[in-house]
Amino acid sequence: MSIRNLDDLLAEGVSGRRVLVRADLNVPLDKQTGEITDDGRIRAVLPTLSALVQAGAKVVVCSHLGRPKGAPDPQFSLRPVAGRLGELLGTTVHFAEDTVGESARSTVDGLADGQVALLENLRFNKGETSKDDAERGAFADQLAAFGDAYVDDAFGAVHRKHASVYDVPARLPHVAGRLVLREVEVLSKLTGNPDRPYVVVLGGSKVSDKLAVIEALLPTVDRLLIGGGMCFTFLKAQGHEVGSSLLEEEMVETCRNLMEREPGKIMLPVDVVAAVAFAPDAAHDTVPADGIPSHQVGLDIGPETVAGFAAALSQAKTIFWNGPMGVFEMAAFANGTRGVAEAITKADAFSVVGGGDSAAAVRVLGLDESAFGHISTGGGASLEYLEGKTLPGIAALEN
Ligand code: 3PG
Ligand code: MG
Repeated sequence: MSIRNLDDLLAEGVSGRRVLVRADLNVPLDKQTGEITDDGRIRAVLPTLSALVQAGAKVVVCSHLGRPKGAPDPQFSLRPVAGRLGELLGTTVHFAEDTVGESARSTVDGLADGQVALLENLRFNKGETSKDDAERGAFADQLAAFGDAYVDDAFGAVHRKHASVYDVPARLPHVAGRLVLREVEVLSKLTGNPDRPYVVVLGGSKVSDKLAVIEALLPTVDRLLIGGGMCFTFLKAQGHEVGSSLLEEEMVETCRNLMEREPGKIMLPVDVVAAVAFAPDAAHDTVPADGIPSHQVGLDIGPETVAGFAAALSQAKTIFWNGPMGVFEMAAFANGTRGVAEAITKADAFSVVGGGDSAAAVRVLGLDESAFGHISTGGGASLEYLEGKTLPGIAALEN
């Protein structure tokens, strides 16, 4: 792979140059208070930003947050992120109140060497996510005007064909940041020649979201452990009733075919924690996976399942985990996710946690992050990488 990286740019010298950095600062915010509930993605981009600050660059950071619809929407403002980023970097982060307008221009123009600016949410502009090449290109022109060079450190967004990810690098000298480089190095180990047994744990709510990655992984992995909301569609395919648990009727046949294709490879829960309602304080009980009462909803995998999954994981030499095993945000239904996460840390294996919810689960459950080989910042991006898809943001850096 012929991607230039941050060291190449630093070797050229960046002092006094404006470096536009695409970061993925799409962090979860508390719905009530608007506070950042997990700053993992901000911390993940610090190595790149610190290196540029130290080298005397004028650092212009841009990112999306949430999914605003192409116009300013205060609940998706990056302003709180600017504050947190400044604390972590130990320097003021100058916040521009728009992305490519008057405020952005004067903020960027006002930067001294070694100073940092953060532009307002990229997705406040239609051009960022437009499917129309010309519309995206016009927005990319405006963004590119803020940089003399471009660094992509937004691993979580490399699967998006968006202006800041795909079109800007065509307009500026471009390199991969430290985070993107590390993510690609790690994930390429999984798609290359992983040490075996290679065990994958998948959770999350929908089979349909994970179908492509299951199809891609099934022939290459030694074991595929399935928990989370999506296990119920598989259980149904095995002929079990699942009560009021999450079920994708239209996927049952697909799940049956997947299990028949590689008999014995897919491991499903043998017991589940079923509750009378989807609520933190709902009465609940552990029941066999083939005996979920008709009006109950499965909200976690049970202890026997955790033990079985842990046994499979203890044999593994390579592990990839994406998706929680249950509703871990509710303490009563967090044991499955915690148990599997702990089993992963205990295994003598190279382990990768893929993205979004599972990465957040590691931190929210207070697990030791350093006990995992790598915690990816990309949910969709890491899955699409494992599917073998071309990622627009990576392809753009290769050119
Ligand atoms: C993510 O959170 O998965 C990334 O930031 C990408 O966000 P998106 O799915 O809204 O494009
Ligand atoms: Mg996503």
